[in-house]
Amino acid sequence: MKATQSPIRSLSWLLAIIVPCSALTFTVPSSPPSNASQQLDPAPIGVSLEFFAFPAYFTDVASTSPCLQNLRSLTGTWPPLRIGGTTQDRATYSASQTTAVSYTVAAPGDAPSTLTFGPSFMTLANTYGGQTIIGFNRRLNNQPNTIQAARKALDEMDNLNSIELGNEPNFYTSSDPIAGGSWSGTKDFASQVSWQTAVGSNLSTTNIFSAGVYFDTNTFSIAGLTAQESSTAAQYVREYCSHNYPQSQSSANLASLMSHSAIKSQIAPFKNEITAAKNAGKYHIMGETNSATQGGGGISPTFGAGLWLMDYSIQMLILGTKALYFHQGTVGNCQYCWWGRYSMGAPYYGAYYATMALAGADQIAPLDSGTTNYAAYAIYKAGKPVRLLLYNSDYYVSGTRSVQTFTMSGLPGTAVTAKRLTASSATARQDQGGNPTVGGQTFANGTCAIQGSAVSESAAVVSGRATFTVAASEALLVYL
Ligand SMILES: *[C@@H]1O[C@H](CO)[C@@H](O)[C@H](O)[C@H]1NC(C)=O
Ligand SMILES: *[C@@H]1O[C@H](CO)[C@@H](O)[C@H](O)[C@H]1NC(C)=O
Ligand SMILES: *[C@@H]1O[C@H](CO)[C@@H](O)[C@H](O)[C@H]1NC(C)=O
Repeated sequence: MKATQSPIRSLSWLLAIIVPCSALTFTVPSSPPSNASQQLDPAPIGVSLEFFAFPAYFTDVASTSPCLQNLRSLTGTWPPLRIGGTTQDRATYSASQTTAVSYTVAAPGDAPSTLTFGPSFMTLANTYGGQTIIGFNRRLNNQPNTIQAARKALDEMDNLNSIELGNEPNFYTSSDPIAGGSWSGTKDFASQVSWQTAVGSNLSTTNIFSAGVYFDTNTFSIAGLTAQESSTAAQYVREYCSHNYPQSQSSANLASLMSHSAIKSQIAPFKNEITAAKNAGKYHIMGETNSATQGGGGISPTFGAGLWLMDYSIQMLILGTKALYFHQGTVGNCQYCWWGRYSMGAPYYGAYYATMALAGADQIAPLDSGTTNYAAYAIYKAGKPVRLLLYNSDYYVSGTRSVQTFTMSGLPGTAVTAKRLTASSATARQDQGGNPTVGGQTFANGTCAIQGSAVSESAAVVSGRATFTVAASEALLVYL
C-alpha cells in the first residue's frame, strides 16, 4: 500500500499524525513571575497516618520506611508526618500501658470505635527522622488525659512539630461529651480557644498547636476561628490546618478528579483560609487529604489519582499552603494508600514525581491560566528557571491516545532532558498489573524499592525554544 502512495500523499499523512489538534505556546519568565508560589518548604509533600494504624505502619509494614526514604533521597529532608485522624478522638492515653496501642476490632479491616495508647506510642513516633504532628483527643472532653499525653509527646519527641486538639470537630455531634448537648462552629471556636489556653499554659510551650483541623471551610472555618482567638490562646498556635477530600467514595469521578481546571476550582475555597492563617501571623497546612472520603473509592488506587495528587499538591502550594499530608488509613483496607503490605498504590508515583519536580526549588509558577486541561509550570531556584512541569489532564482510558504539544520559549542552553510520568491509562492500577513508570522506573510491591533502568528523554533548544509532546493522562518534567 505504502509503495503506491505519491510522495505528497505520504507527506500529508505524516503531518496529520504529528500535528496535534491543538498546540500550546508558553514563554518561560527568566525570573519568578508575580503569581509564583511563596518560598517552598524543603519537603512540602508528606504523609498522614491514621492514629490507631500508626504503630502497625512503623513496625509491621515493610514499605513504610523505604517509601519515605525514597522521597527523602530526592530532597534531603524526610517528608513531614502527621499521626491522627478519626481514631485520635476515640483514643485515651494510658500511662501504664506497655504496648503502643490497644484495641479490638470485629474484622481486620475495621477501625476501632475505642482504643488506648501508652508512652511507647510517643517513643515510636520519635524514631521518625522528619517533623511530626501528633493529634490527641478533644471530643471525649477529658482534658487532663489529653494534657498527660501532650506532656509525654513533648518530653519524648525531638521531632515534634505540633499537637492537634481534636480531629475534624465539624463532624462532632451534640451527643459527643465535648458538646454538652449542642454543637456549632461558634461552640467549637470557643472550645479550641479554651483548650489552647489551658493545655498550652500547662505545657509551658508556645507555638505548639495545629489548630482548626477542619474538614470544612464554611461554618467551621479558620477564618471564623482566627477571629475568635485571644492573644493568650494565639501564642500557643503554631499553624492552622485544613482537611480536604475532593470526592466522596460513593460518587467518585476520575476524569473530574484529575482535571487541571477542576482542581483549581475545587481548591478555591481554601484561599480564604490560607489568608486568614497568614493574617493571624501563622501558616496554613493541608494536614489530612486524599482523593475520596472513607478510605477512598474505586478511583483512588488509579494512576489518574496519582496525576491528581501531583497537580493538586502543586496548585495548593501555589495557593499558599505550606505542606500537604496525604492520609494513609487502615492497613489492608485503604484504596488511596500509597503503599500496603503487598502492593504499591499508583498515587505514590504522583507523590514521588511532584517531589522530584520541587526538590531543592525555591518557587513554582503557573504559566497557564488554570482554565483548561493543560498545565505548564516553571520551577525556580535562586531566581532562575531550573525545571518545567507539563501536565496533560485529558482523561485517557482506551482507544486512540491524544497528544498535546507544548512549545516553550525563553529556555537557556541548546538541549534539555526530561523524565516522563506515564501508565497505560488513567485507570491503570499497579495491583492489577498496570504499573506506572516514572522516568521508566517502577516501585517494587512490598518493598517500595525503585527498580528498572532510568529513562531520560532529550530535546534540542533552538533560539530558546523547544517543543514537547505529552499524551493524555501523562506528565513531563523538563530539566533546563
Ligand atoms: C497540668 O495538667 C495536669 C492534668 O490536668 C495537672 O495535674 C497539673 O497540675 C497541671 N500542671 C500545671 C503546671 O498546670
Ligand atoms: C500567571 O501569570 C502568567 C504571566 O506570567 C499568566 O500567563 C498566567 O495565566 C497566570 N496564571 C495563573 C493561574 O494565575
Ligand atoms: C505488583 O503486583 C501486581 C499484582 O501481582 C502485578 O500485576 C504487578 O506487575 C506488580 N508490579 C511491580 C512493579 O512489580
